Amino acid sequence: MTSKVLGLSAMLGLSFVLLGCDDAPGRPRPGPQVLRPEQELDFAMLYQSNCAGCHGAQGNHGAAIALSNPVYLAIAGEDVLKDITSHGVHGSLMPAFARSSGGTLTDQQVEVLAHGMVKAWGQPNGLSAPSLPAYKTILSPDTTRGQQQFAASCSSCHGADGTGTQTAKGDKIGSIVDPSYLALMSDQAIRSIILAGLPDRGMPDWRSDSATPMTDQQITDVVAWMASQRGPSAGQPYPSHP
Ligand code: HEC
Ligand code: HEC
Repeated sequence: MTSKVLGLSAMLGLSFVLLGCDDAPGRPRPGPQVLRPEQELDFAMLYQSNCAGCHGAQGNHGAAIALSNPVYLAIAGEDVLKDITSHGVHGSLMPAFARSSGGTLTDQQVEVLAHGMVKAWGQPNGLSAPSLPAYKTILSPDTTRGQQQFAASCSSCHGADGTGTQTAKGDKIGSIVDPSYLALMSDQAIRSIILAGLPDRGMPDWRSDSATPMTDQQITDVVAWMASQRGPSAGQPYPSHP
């Protein structure tokens, strides 16, 4: 084999292995041997071609919690990741990927993605927290209590009304109660950020760097207070414009 052929077989490595020796160089080929999309089972490839455009190559970009945040991955767990990847988030830009929901991925591929995210970006031995908060809440929210809780837990960084502040270091934090910002975020997306924080940008997780972590009820109330300032139709950035 020439080095050129060797290089080519290396590039086609995966399909070459899967297809066995019938594909050996020198034999007449029926056509280009590439994986059919549903045969792709490599996490990096699946993530790159389906998710990176919106969530960033390293899972740390976009209008959602960073998927590579290990606190997020511990709280959500593989079942939640599978469920959201399969069915999407209704009313948001997050598409449904499972074939059964009109998407392009097989259930096996969705599993590779969910497992791959936890393996690539999760904490290998889990989080060292006494107990993890629930990903989803089943509690009833109270908007008035939420406003008080926002003042207690969030206003030091986000301003009393959530419209932003300047930190001691002089960094500006923008509004998190702007209706068009909130229109792009589901309640769960807000909850996920409160649960897991934005470590790259200096926002703490639910433990809030304090002795008393936020409770499920407190988080639920704050989310309700923020969501109460959203425009009437989530997913429509400018619902009131003609
Ligand atoms: C077109 C853009 C887009 C693509 C492509 C996309 N996402 Fe999303 N994703 C979003 C948005 C926007 C949200 C936040 C939705 C909301 O408001 O709850 C989100 C949310 C999520 C969440 C839930 C976050 C939370 O708060 O719990 C998961 C998990 C997720 N995406 C995984 C994936 C995976 C895996 C892929 C690839 C198979 C993918 N996404 C592809 C836009 C996208
Ligand atoms: C110690 C400071 C601090 C505290 C306390 C804090 N945050 Fe943040 N938060 C930040 C920073 C910094 C950012 C990133 C802002 C930026 O990049 O513009 C942020 C971002 C956010 C975002 C996402 C904004 C975006 O641009 O995507 C939300 C939502 C949010 N915070 C909600 C809250 C809520 C609700 C609380 C209280 C439960 C809270 N935060 C407490 C510092 C804090």
